[in-house]
Amino acid sequence: MEIMSRLDKFLKDAETEINNTVSLKSVQELRIKYLGRKSEIVTILKGLGGIPSDLRPKIGMRANEVKSYIDKILIRREKELSNNIFNTLGDKEKIDITEPGIKNETGHLHPISRMRMEVEDIFSSMGFTIATGPEVELDYYNFEALNIPPDHPARDMQDTIWTVEGSLLRTHTSCVQIRTMEKFKPPIRVIAPGRVFRYEETDASHEHTFYQVEGLMIDKNISVSNLIAVMKTMLKSVFRRTVKVRLRPGYFPFVEPGFELDINCLICGGTGCPVCKQSGWVELLPCGLVHPNVLKAGKVDPREYSGFAFGMGLDRLVMMRYGIDDIRLFHSGDLRFLEQF
Ligand code: DAH
Repeated sequence: MEIMSRLDKFLKDAETEINNTVSLKSVQELRIKYLGRKSEIVTILKGLGGIPSDLRPKIGMRANEVKSYIDKILIRREKELSNNIFNTLGDKEKIDITEPGIKNETGHLHPISRMRMEVEDIFSSMGFTIATGPEVELDYYNFEALNIPPDHPARDMQDTIWTVEGSLLRTHTSCVQIRTMEKFKPPIRVIAPGRVFRYEETDASHEHTFYQVEGLMIDKNISVSNLIAVMKTMLKSVFRRTVKVRLRPGYFPFVEPGFELDINCLICGGTGCPVCKQSGWVELLPCGLVHPNVLKAGKVDPREYSGFAFGMGLDRLVMMRYGIDDIRLFHSGDLRFLEQF
């Protein structure tokens, strides 16, 4: 039975050594030592043929048992060690704590979202609340209630995407003016940021999908000077400096009078440059005093109340602040563009 005690000793040695090992690398080495082609157990198994046939089954069985037991403890030890990351390195290897780490890439908000939040904060500080409305809108809110009846030529000012059911994708955020007046009584101070859609061919300054911030303030005795004061305060916060503004007449059916509000060119400071086409002024946003018909549609009495409204292009504002010359970049998903913010 000399061979049986050899097997026992072999198992004991293997177990002790495997349990005492501290690195994954040496577990690999022990696997070769104890179960490899030149290991004692393999030699014994190979030599079974030379063993008297009455002893052969018993020894063969024991040898196989030992072999699979060693395999098990090797696997177990390997698992134990890989749970501890420090041991995945070889015995002699050390962690170099001075080596620069691997940086985790983190995303960030889109520049338009950031601008939207900033504008929301600025208007909140002036007592405005944030209103929203649906992107798929009814003709009534997008046109009719805004003093644009069917067949009115002003419908051609905005190319519209219609749904098969006869609704539309809102062409502007002005619809929220009516929805707000339906919900709240004056005094009203709201802004409505949101996505709008036009049936439009795209180029550097036109997109089929873009962002506006609608503004509406209704109270007793609201005049153009209130409008200018609110716009100047907002622009000072957005551009972080005093911005000169001027009003030119502009036509929009839902305001009377209607204006185009220009700001002095922030690139050249008003002396003339390619951005402002040498005029010193840049068109920023359309606005005006809310048309009496629009107040009536919102069940507000125009003899008692007046108000101003504006529709600011959010994309435009971001483009001006960062000097971006192509609106299509916003939806391009191009990381080379987005990572700059
Ligand atoms: N809704 C207009 C557009 O998208 C912009 C606009 C003009 C909004 C004048 C207003 C306004 O509130 O008073 O073209």
